[in-house]
Amino acid sequence: MFNFEFHNPTRIVFGQDRLKELNRLVPADAKVLILFGGGSVKQFGTLDKVRQALGNRNLIEFGGIEPNPRYSTLMRAVEVVRGEKIDFLLAVGGGSVMDGTKFIALAARYGGNAEDILTGKAKPAQLSAAVALATVVTLPATGSEMNSGGVISHQGGKFVFFSPLVFPQFSILDPTLTFTLPPTQVANGVIDTFIHTVEQYVTLPAEGRFQDRTAEGILRTLIEIGPATVADPSDYDARANLMWCATNALNGLIGAGAPQDWTTHMIGHELTALFGIDHAKTLAVLQPAVWTVCKEQKRAKLLQYADRVWDLREGSEDNRIDEAIARTRAFFEGLGVSTRLGSYGVAADRIDDVVRALETHGMTALGEKRQVTLEVSRRILEEAL
Ligand code: NZQ
Ligand code: ZN
Repeated sequence: MFNFEFHNPTRIVFGQDRLKELNRLVPADAKVLILFGGGSVKQFGTLDKVRQALGNRNLIEFGGIEPNPRYSTLMRAVEVVRGEKIDFLLAVGGGSVMDGTKFIALAARYGGNAEDILTGKAKPAQLSAAVALATVVTLPATGSEMNSGGVISHQGGKFVFFSPLVFPQFSILDPTLTFTLPPTQVANGVIDTFIHTVEQYVTLPAEGRFQDRTAEGILRTLIEIGPATVADPSDYDARANLMWCATNALNGLIGAGAPQDWTTHMIGHELTALFGIDHAKTLAVLQPAVWTVCKEQKRAKLLQYADRVWDLREGSEDNRIDEAIARTRAFFEGLGVSTRLGSYGVAADRIDDVVRALETHGMTALGEKRQVTLEVSRRILEEAL
């Protein structure tokens, strides 16, 4: 197991009817900016409940944070935070709203050009302050509610940033707030959670036994409850399990001391930026292809995955691996998500564009051993067609 440091300061408030506790959790004298997306929280009454719970605090709203949140939108919110002297940000939404809010929290307190936060010019040490933030989760998927990262769209790319300053102070996880999600977004949540887990698990053996067993527990839980929670939104326990899996797949726990890959995510970001494909759907397309192309390096962990997640113990090594990949693909397809690039209107003649974008963004040595060069990425994209 590698050395690691693990610190996660986010308080999780989980369960039904917990919104009223906002009154306890948000400082009484805070001037609060409530941030949300395209309107689902208005349509389904969540925003009203949030406002009610916050009582007579000074509240301002900022709506319109789009999926794959854009820098230009977020900078408008930064002006509001500065102009109105906001001291608490409350994100009410999915990963896009939560990530956008984290960026706003940093950008509002950053002295330089806020693009530096995305390009990495602003090193974590230079980001010395952020506005306090918290979240109310309406879409279980990204884990943003309990981590220190975000992904922002800007100038044709998606940029990842991290800062310990943007761990939410608390996150309210009420599974009933997600009952209004369309089935395709629930399927996205199952798949995003699945891929976050395997990006930190199907790598190289590293004797992280707790991490491996926990990852396998998340994956088996998703396989058990995934179809049920897509088919029946009001099955509380299935949704509650999805929600808690999503949070734990990307809050640092299973990745601590373990090798990590993230190839699927980095290529996936380019597919979203270029073709507008939902984040999770890019992952469903790419993950089987990554495993097929990187089979030799990942052989030991793919065999462990086949055994402990899919109970595949018979036949040759190659057969077990191929069957595990096929079952994974069938699981995603069974949730209603296509696993072939062609289904999203992307043909072989666009692969050059994707490889060029990877190069422009410096994604030229991905994977747990930095073995995924541009040439390997090209093979993965060809395999995904
Ligand atoms: O905008 P509104 O009207 O709210 O509608 C949203 C949006 O259209 C809708 N929605 C959310 N909650 C709902 C609801 N509709 C009905 N009922 C509800 N309860 O769902 C749509 C998608 O929302 P979005 O927030 O974009 O989805 P998701 O949570 O999947 O977030 C995706 C974003 O997170 C980033 C992705 O790159 C992408 O930008 N990621 C962030 C990560 C992180 N911070 O750690 C890691 C992930 O790998 C991921 O990259
Ligand atoms: Zn993801």
